[in-house]
Amino acid sequence: MFQAAAKTLSSASTSSVSRGISSSLRHYCEKRLRVSEALSGADLGTNVKVQGWVRSVRPQKTNLFLHVNDGSSLQSLQVVAGSELNDPSLTFGSAVEVTGILKKSPRQTQPVELEAEQIQVVGKCNPLDFPFKIKDRHSLEYIRQFPHLRCRTNAFSSLLRIRSEATAAIHSYFKENGFLQIHTPIITSNDCEGAGELFQVEPSGPEHEEDENYFSVPAFLTVSGQLHLEVMSGAFSRVYTFGPTFRAENSQSRRHLAEFYMVEAEVSFTQSLEDLTKVMEGMFRSATEHVLARCAEDVDLFHKHVTPGHRGTVEAMMKRRFPVITYSEAIDILNSSSETFVFPTNWGCDLQTEHEKYLVKHCGNTPVFVTDYPYDLKPFYARDNLDGPKHTAAAVDLLVPGVGELCGGSLREERLDLLSARLEAVGLEETYSWYLDLRRFGSVPHGGFGLGFDRFLQCVLGVDNIKDVIPFPRFSHSCPL
Ligand code: 4AD
Ligand code: MG
Repeated sequence: MFQAAAKTLSSASTSSVSRGISSSLRHYCEKRLRVSEALSGADLGTNVKVQGWVRSVRPQKTNLFLHVNDGSSLQSLQVVAGSELNDPSLTFGSAVEVTGILKKSPRQTQPVELEAEQIQVVGKCNPLDFPFKIKDRHSLEYIRQFPHLRCRTNAFSSLLRIRSEATAAIHSYFKENGFLQIHTPIITSNDCEGAGELFQVEPSGPEHEEDENYFSVPAFLTVSGQLHLEVMSGAFSRVYTFGPTFRAENSQSRRHLAEFYMVEAEVSFTQSLEDLTKVMEGMFRSATEHVLARCAEDVDLFHKHVTPGHRGTVEAMMKRRFPVITYSEAIDILNSSSETFVFPTNWGCDLQTEHEKYLVKHCGNTPVFVTDYPYDLKPFYARDNLDGPKHTAAAVDLLVPGVGELCGGSLREERLDLLSARLEAVGLEETYSWYLDLRRFGSVPHGGFGLGFDRFLQCVLGVDNIKDVIPFPRFSHSCPL
């Protein structure tokens, strides 16, 4: 209602007429727009208010030019003002509120500009102390030192918009494919059989000093929601979860975090590993396409300035179906390569990052599925292929350019006799009697996988260090966020 009134009034007005409107009426008529909305051009001729942070200031003899950004897009809105509106506190990084008329821009660089009638500096920013400089293109390493401020840079705000869109794309993919989202617990006493090192959860404070076990059993931050999803797949057929996951790996690696986001899915009534690889590939493609289409400018910033050349890699990835090789074939490929690896490549060994990267290159620098890993390398729940003498389990990893392992999954052992024999052999039959119940009561062939969401972003954007794709890298002494 207010918006419609504002439009009618201002579209009939010229800038000089609108300057004559009393301030209370102008306040009533002003339409508050985000920068992306202003840039869309839908409100040309309208009296609007835009709020954001100054990305550039260019005072000229008669005019003042500003660029204002509010995080709604990579593009900033150009503000043109008479030089009388210049103010020494209008500096790079300061927060401003600008009111004026949206006009078609005579300049080619953008379609719309805001002819300012009033500029208010809401929050000053001393450019000498501000760690980012107006003319510099700072590296990701440099801005990482300022976890509390790096969202004010173009690169990092692009990253966060992409991260948000990719999250939405993953939820859409599952919704469109009939999966039910399950909020699996963060605090759990289940360790998903060694999926990773655990963080134990205990209450702090003197009032809890006597508590032996606050939760009655030892409790940990989740390393995987897989077993909870397996429970739910026994009633809903297709389920997924997408949330924070924790591993106490004190690794300084470029692809490991103590807290990361994992997407996990579980599918019932599977017939083969292909039922899983289809979902993995479908989700990867749909999330990547969504991000490339919806965040084109933000992705371009990475592909042009942060990781030049990566665009070609992503386009090549999307062109053909992901190849599938067995673990045994992977070992043959590694053994016949002329490369010298640090870790051995005999049948039965775990694939290391160096091996994964080699396999990806060997297959044309495209994502590749590796299936049927040695039975002894996989946890008790992986389905026995009942083969030999090289005994394998129906497990699959997806390896991708630049990152290596992006997804890990398997068919689950649904056969009660085989599962209880394996649990008994490792002395876990009692602990997992609830899990055996799932096989006693309406057991079906099923399987699932987990995808490292942060690694997915690394792969699409070509970002080398996983710390540069998460909102807050932990921990900095200067900023214990
Ligand atoms: O291969 P992982 O350990 O698989 C599981 O946890 C299964 N229980 C998932 C399932 O079947 N539901 O982890 C899955 C993926 C890895 O492929 C990797 O991309 C990512 O999670 N990941 C990490 N990402 C960042 N930092 C870490 N410390 C990670 N550990 C695993
Ligand atoms: Mg794995």
